[in-house]
Amino acid sequence: MTAEMFTLGREPASYPGSQPESGYGSSRPAAPGTPRRIRSPVTLVSVGLVLAALVALGLLLLRHGPKEPADGGPSGALTSPTAPATPKRQSLRDQMPPGVRIGSAVDGRSLSLDPAYRDLLGSEFNAITAENAMKWRSLEPVPGVYAWTGADQLVEFAERHGQAVYGHTLVWHSDVPKWVSPDWPAERVRAVLQEHVTAVVSRYRGRVWAWDVVNEVLDEDGSLRDTVWLRKLGPGYIADAFRWAHAADPGARLFINEYGIEGRTRKADALVKLVRELRRAGVPVDGVGFQSHLRWDQQPRDLLGNLRRFADLGLSVAVTELDVRIALPATPQKLERQAAVYRQVLQACLAVPACVSFTVWGFTDARSWIPGYHRGYGAACLFDTSPAPKPAHAALLDELRRHSARGGIVPSPG
Ligand code: XIL
Repeated sequence: MTAEMFTLGREPASYPGSQPESGYGSSRPAAPGTPRRIRSPVTLVSVGLVLAALVALGLLLLRHGPKEPADGGPSGALTSPTAPATPKRQSLRDQMPPGVRIGSAVDGRSLSLDPAYRDLLGSEFNAITAENAMKWRSLEPVPGVYAWTGADQLVEFAERHGQAVYGHTLVWHSDVPKWVSPDWPAERVRAVLQEHVTAVVSRYRGRVWAWDVVNEVLDEDGSLRDTVWLRKLGPGYIADAFRWAHAADPGARLFINEYGIEGRTRKADALVKLVRELRRAGVPVDGVGFQSHLRWDQQPRDLLGNLRRFADLGLSVAVTELDVRIALPATPQKLERQAAVYRQVLQACLAVPACVSFTVWGFTDARSWIPGYHRGYGAACLFDTSPAPKPAHAALLDELRRHSARGGIVPSPG
């Protein structure tokens, strides 16, 4: 599948990944009849030495293999991972229907250091989300001093691999840099928040497909979460954040992202109300992100119905952070149940035309946030630590094949 096949959302005008790599296309053969310049014995000796050096260099390269490119690109191969030299098994991105992206969160360290990680990321997914690199604390550790490198690397990787970037996240109560003080007067808090949203969205204008503008603004009971933003700025900070983001990149799709809304929860009901009000007030909210941090032993109740009620408001919906954690140890039975949960979420997304992307929160158990945050749980991803595909990966592929065999038509549950 090529980037051009997507029908929803806006794509960057062209992906550098589809262009020849700079530096490889510039050598021109010498014009015929170019006079030979070797004249003296001294010159012949020098040529001999140069040739010997080249042979030695060639032997060295043969022994140690090509070096990793410093830019975190594909593993030194001149072919793109989307056009591998040897036939590979079918990847998820190959099977996705047009109009629905398949994404993964990206661990910045692995992106820089691990060629196998990069290969899988490039071949399996056509969208990527920064797991941490675009959070405020990563981007602006010191006031006014931006650290763009990690986020830039991710965006460049995406462009080389024909992937869309899902930006995560502009306004959150967590990962705010320490220098933002809750003791500041409201005007100052508002000014730094506006500056942050504007700086980040402007930098990636036209290159980030969608942004999580606000993340986790609701409490479990459906009230607005008590955060520094709410306390200082009142509930209007949400609308403001969307307006600032829209002003900085009118082409980006703007999402409100939340967890615990996959079932019929009070939070989900409250979110329906909130986005309806925002839309009525003309706030540029385009979609709702369902984080979907789920468990192997609990199928979310009525995910499909829930996606639909947001879609009925005229919004896009997206699965933004899916993982399915298992109480360790992971047994074959638990892995099968996990696969069923992954499949169920994909089924629900495919059944709702407004569902524009399906993103997993990391694809390998070797690099998942789950063991660090949910004690006793793990094995939450599509690939194990090797990384080899797990039953959940096979279930997604199978579901995609069935979907395509039906011509993309989803049977109505009645
Ligand atoms: C998590 C990352 O995965 C961790 O690496 C980090 O230490 C904490 O944040 N909801 C979100 C994500 O919106 O940003 C969180 O990501 C997981 C929960």
